[in-house]
Amino acid sequence: MRRLSTNDHDLDEAVALLRAGKLVAFPTETVYGLGGDAANADAVRAIFAAKGRPADHPVIVHLPNMDAMEAWADPVPEAALRLAGAFWPGPLTLVLPRAAHVNPLVTGGQDTIGLRVPSHPVAEALLERFGGSLAAPSANRFGHVSPTTAAHVQAEFGPEVAAVVDGGACDVGLESTIVDLSAAEPRLLRPGMIHLAALESVLGRPLVAAPTEEGPRAPGRLPSHYAPRAPLRLVGPAELAASAREAAVSGLVAVLSRRVTAEAMDGVDWRVLPETPERYARVLYATLRDVDVAEPTLILVERVPDAPEWRAIGDRLARAAT
Ligand code: TXA
Ligand code: MG
Repeated sequence: MRRLSTNDHDLDEAVALLRAGKLVAFPTETVYGLGGDAANADAVRAIFAAKGRPADHPVIVHLPNMDAMEAWADPVPEAALRLAGAFWPGPLTLVLPRAAHVNPLVTGGQDTIGLRVPSHPVAEALLERFGGSLAAPSANRFGHVSPTTAAHVQAEFGPEVAAVVDGGACDVGLESTIVDLSAAEPRLLRPGMIHLAALESVLGRPLVAAPTEEGPRAPGRLPSHYAPRAPLRLVGPAELAASAREAAVSGLVAVLSRRVTAEAMDGVDWRVLPETPERYARVLYATLRDVDVAEPTLILVERVPDAPEWRAIGDRLARAAT
């Protein structure tokens, strides 16, 4: 896999690869995406093969702008125009009824399509030069932690991915919020850093939470996902130090806390994460990948507050723990 920079020459190179049906990973504001020409069935097939992702799991199509929605969705509900107007470009994916011509490969055989306009300047530049839309799931193997740097992408894939455009670390750090507008009631399929209250105030109505046992429509909703290699356990703040000490008896333990510990503990890799949800989300995946390298027997993560602004983080941690 080649590592491309974000200069004009390298972006043209990335576009040439995409036009040739190759896979190019690129940064978005949320996580790195594994991009392929959304209109090229072979490229979409190659994405599924590289990820090891089951064929019934749809991929998100990244659009250059809001107007491109009409090429993929039919009809475009009024609520979609509202949410897109308020939050695009940005970390929100809308699930809409798919247009008749859309290849079922992209939608995992479903009648709906996931669309988003990313706000990362490199993603915007790439989409604009490419002049089309890019299918792009997170650039990780199925079920693993999403990548937030180009080095993470290089650690996941080999030559099956032609290149990664290195745009530095992602700003949001967690995958987009997903709202399903394909049924009568708008539904939240995946919480993200665009929070429920903000969505509801733009929609002018409540969002229902989608039931989790609804099958494989969104792999991010499978009970086990976003997981490091080492087992991960969530622990309350009060028990964290004692749990770490106890687990360290049987091997290396990594701890992700939001505070420093006064005690020195043998066999414990104690990491301090930021106290605000935005900053925590930005570094969470990189920290999980980093502690995972030493192959700890256990990763203990301090439970995050049960508050709306922590909801997406709590959701990912719960899935990583399953
Ligand atoms: O932030 C993100 O959304 C990142 C960046 C690269 O844009 N992408 C991402 O893609 O997380 P992926 O494929 O790893 O997760 C997208 C989620 C999956 O759970 C997928 O099933 C769901 O979106 N999804 C896509 N299209 C859908 C559809 N038509 N109906 C239901 N869920 C859909
Ligand atoms: Mg993913």
